[in-house]
Amino acid sequence: MNVTKRTFDAVIVGAGGAGLRAAIQLSEAGLKTAVLSKVFPTRSHTVAAQGGVAASLGNSEEDHWHWHMYDTVKGSDWLGDQDAIEFMCKKANEVVIELEHYGMPFDRLDSGKIYQRPFGGHMSNFGEKPVRRSCAAADRTGHAMLHAMYQRNVKVNTQFFVEWMALDLIRDADGTVLGVTAMEMETGEVMILQAKATLFATGGGGRIFYSSTNAFINTGDGLGMAARAGIPLEDMEFWQFHPTGVAGAGVLITEGVRGEGGILRNSSGERFMERYAPNAKDLASRDVVSRAMATEIKEGRGCGPNKDYVQLDITHLPPETIMKRLPGIHEIALQFASIDALKEPIPVVPTAHYMMGGIPTNYSGRVVAPKGGDMSVPVPGLYAAGECACASVHGANRLGTNSLLDLLVFGKSAGESMVEDIKAMPGSHRDLPKGAADASLARLSRLESQKGGASVHETRLALQRNMQDHCGVFRFKDMLEKGVANILDIEQQVAQTEIKDKSKVWNTARMEALELDNLIEVAKATMVSANARLESRGAHVRNDCADSVEFPDGRNDKEWLKHTLWTRDGNRLEYKPVHLKPLTVDSIGLKKRAY
Ligand code: FUM
Repeated sequence: MNVTKRTFDAVIVGAGGAGLRAAIQLSEAGLKTAVLSKVFPTRSHTVAAQGGVAASLGNSEEDHWHWHMYDTVKGSDWLGDQDAIEFMCKKANEVVIELEHYGMPFDRLDSGKIYQRPFGGHMSNFGEKPVRRSCAAADRTGHAMLHAMYQRNVKVNTQFFVEWMALDLIRDADGTVLGVTAMEMETGEVMILQAKATLFATGGGGRIFYSSTNAFINTGDGLGMAARAGIPLEDMEFWQFHPTGVAGAGVLITEGVRGEGGILRNSSGERFMERYAPNAKDLASRDVVSRAMATEIKEGRGCGPNKDYVQLDITHLPPETIMKRLPGIHEIALQFASIDALKEPIPVVPTAHYMMGGIPTNYSGRVVAPKGGDMSVPVPGLYAAGECACASVHGANRLGTNSLLDLLVFGKSAGESMVEDIKAMPGSHRDLPKGAADASLARLSRLESQKGGASVHETRLALQRNMQDHCGVFRFKDMLEKGVANILDIEQQVAQTEIKDKSKVWNTARMEALELDNLIEVAKATMVSANARLESRGAHVRNDCADSVEFPDGRNDKEWLKHTLWTRDGNRLEYKPVHLKPLTVDSIGLKKRAY
């Protein structure tokens, strides 16, 4: 196959919030920047983030970045790196105001300031009571954000490659990253995009689960490419199940609903969160609420003929509030549950939503990996931001609205690092290694010639069912072990998938097969890391690591206060320390988490 080459200062894979924010930084610095995306930028999965972006602006009541930092460390069950968390919480106001200046249509208070609503786990005064910290554009915050940042990129001449799928990372013999190979989806043409700096902003991989709030495009492409290029993945055992996916459909119902006063109820109409989180109630952190819901269902207090969901009730809210602040939710409930939320509660279940782990980075957005005894050495030329990256600010459990903040803060800081590193590089691009596209061409050629192989659809379904059944909200020792064995079998099938349609033009079968190569890496990393972590922390809760006097909540700080690093080669696991020391303030000391 003929492979063309294009050369840029910077290549960004992914045009969601993180990719767009980084691109603004690069293009404004006058660097030639290409952004590749499987979909039109404003259709990236950031579009689905509904309830807001966290910043301690204090527009309605007193707030402080240090309180936000405390909540984020506590929310992470102390697995988050406190230097990165301080960096993010301190930068929040600046990036939100910048966004406002790009034209983001935030809702407004009567004072003209940005409207802020409460969100799970965000509290005032070091955990006292819920605070209004989520800056919202109705329940379409991510959607509005993408439009504002896409327009800004058009203004600063970022070059977009729309409907292009990145295939593999290109590294030379020293391990320096020199760009990516990519396929134009319309023609099947393969191209090398050479760059001095490459950023992965490819979003999440929630499609490893059968029931997910994630878009179909969320197949963990950046993680698959990184893993195949020998870069480890961090803390992949930690997946967030959002409490309120529409039962049966998985579509997200924002936590902003509970921020506006929505209440979760079981089959007897009880506001059950009062039992699980007496202080924060429905606004406890997501792992706590999801587990409470799963427990209600497991213990027979679920709703409906099969008692398999709970209800999210907003019927007591004024209709004008619902139609002004939550119009999208009203529409989603109608479309996906045939419910008029003004009159009836919405059936909801916890649904896979967000990957806390990812490609390891420091808070400047540089990808780091172990080398010569040091666990965090920058990989030259490679950067990551947004959900695909692990900075690590979310640790074992992310707070709602910290994802939009993460992609703004770390999109910007990765962009700044890329500008700095590119400007410090003397002369032209480093030479590409011989056969730079060989790995990608081999994958394509296997698909071309495979006979009698497995169906992509059936293999993906087996993968998704395995993850759903063996690595869900509650985890069980025997199920985890079985899940690992299964995923290793499924990996054999992935290596032999067959596509019947060999055409070049818009061949979605080929794209799905290539995406499955990425999903399997995400799924293996998750299963193997989860099976190995012998404690309960944040979103990772095991039946064999339950509450005890020595380990409240099953968390074992003595042995497991450390980050997991999974490497594809041999499914190898290593561990590295959590950064407990913030940048300027005192450490937030370990304690039992309660809401
Ligand atoms: O509930 C939501 O609106 C989702 C926000 C988030 O995941 O941060």
